[in-house]
Formats: sequence, structure tokens, C-alpha cells
Amino acid sequence: MNVGRQLRLGVNIDHVATIRNARGGRHPDLLRAARLAAQAGADGITAHLREDRRHISDEDIRRLRSEIDLPLNMEMAATDEMLQIALRDPPHAVCMVPEKREERTTEGGLDVVAGFNHLRDFVERLGGAGIRVAMFVEPDPAQIDAAKALRAPVVELHTGAYCTAEGAAREAELERIVAAAAHAEAVDLECHAGHGLGFDTVGPVAAIAAIVELNIGHFLIGEAIFGGLQSAVKRMRAFMDEARAEALGERRA
Ligand code: PXP
Repeated sequence: MNVGRQLRLGVNIDHVATIRNARGGRHPDLLRAARLAAQAGADGITAHLREDRRHISDEDIRRLRSEIDLPLNMEMAATDEMLQIALRDPPHAVCMVPEKREERTTEGGLDVVAGFNHLRDFVERLGGAGIRVAMFVEPDPAQIDAAKALRAPVVELHTGAYCTAEGAAREAELERIVAAAAHAEAVDLECHAGHGLGFDTVGPVAAIAAIVELNIGHFLIGEAIFGGLQSAVKRMRAFMDEARAEALGERRA
């Protein structure tokens, strides 16, 4: 993955599934989105299999795993159900995330310090199956040290607070990320980052040399509306106009 480039992009396609699930059926097709992301330069596909299956389904994970050439990074909570799914058909990578049923998105990092004993078995078993295991944590040295002590090879820093803050507060959050990335590098952990990143916030995070992978989803799927809506409407207009012209022509003939 990512030969010759220093910063990988994992495209999170959860919200393609959110739109699909609004109506059921298969449109918009998740695999088509994954292939487009690959063609556009993504290095990996990220998908969060939530306990309530609000977007990604078990079948999605299976198909992304078997039908897409890019590495799959499966985000999951530390539950037995998710562990069994990951072990049954191992993805390239797993990112352990906290999960609350009532939350809209993953609101904060995993508390690896408090959950140390519970998480140990997950890291061991997933790692033992050859899966690269990441811990999604706040940019906090204590959490990074706990991930290191767990022998997880990767930490992913939660960039949500940085993205939602403004002005001096955003600068302060960025400093936390810079320091945390340096700390991860110092203790020899691979460092990723993500959550809430968009065009206006990605630059300073991408500039941090210790970070080797960004995972970005919600903004990209939202932005795709603006990049793609015009062409979709134009094509629909063309189909309509063509069908009407044909029907009129047949009636006249
Ligand atoms: N990284 C992790 C661990 C996440 O849980 C998410 C959201 O699913 C992301 C990155 C991507 O966040 P966003 O969709 O806000 O770009």
C-alpha cells in the first residue's frame, strides 16, 4: 500500500451506506464508491461496522473485503460480536473505537487507560490473526502510552476537537495533535489521524511528518454532492428530454 508516498488516505465510505439505507436497496452502491475512491487516489477504504448497523452492514464488510483491491480498515467497538466478525474474515486493519448507541458519530477517543484489561485480549487476538490494530485515541500522551503498553502497533489521533474549534482554540488543539504525534513516534507507534477533517482543516494535520495516514469520510461524501450533483441532474435531464422527444416523434409518425 502507498509505495513512494508518505501520507496515506483512507476514505471512509460509511455515509454512502447511510444514503443507501435511507431507502433500502443497493443504490448508491458502496463498492462503486470504493472503486471511485481508489481511482481517485485513496490508499485504503475505511468502514465502521456499528453495533446498530445504522450504515455499514455485515454484507458490506464481506464484499469490501473480497471485491475491492484496496486494504480495508474496519472500525469496530471492543465487543465479542465484532471480534468474531473480524476474526472470521480478517480485514487488513482494525481501528478500535468507542461506541455509544445514542451518539451521532464517534465523539471522542477510546479510553485505553481505563479499558486496558478489557482491550488487551482484543489486541492480542486481532494481532495474532495478522490484522494491524489501531487504537483511536484523543491526542493525549497517557492514552498513547497505554496503547503502547497494550502492544497495539498503531494509534489514530482524534482530530474532532481541532476541527470544531476556532481561532486560538483551534491552534491549541493543533498543538496537542503535533505533540501527540511526536510522542507516538518517540515510543515507536505508527501514527494516524482523523475525524471531522475537511479542505480547510486537513492542511496543518497533513503537514505533521509523524502522521502517516489520514482517515476521512463525512466531509468527502458531503462534498461529493457538490462535485457530482450538477452532472447527475444533467444526465437525468438528458434521459427525460430524449424519452419525451422519442415519444413525440412516434406519435407524429
Ligand atoms: N477515524 C475514525 C476512527 C472514525 O471513527 C471516523 C468516523 O467514522 C473517521 C476517522 C472519519 O471521520 P469523518 O467521517 O468525520 O471524516
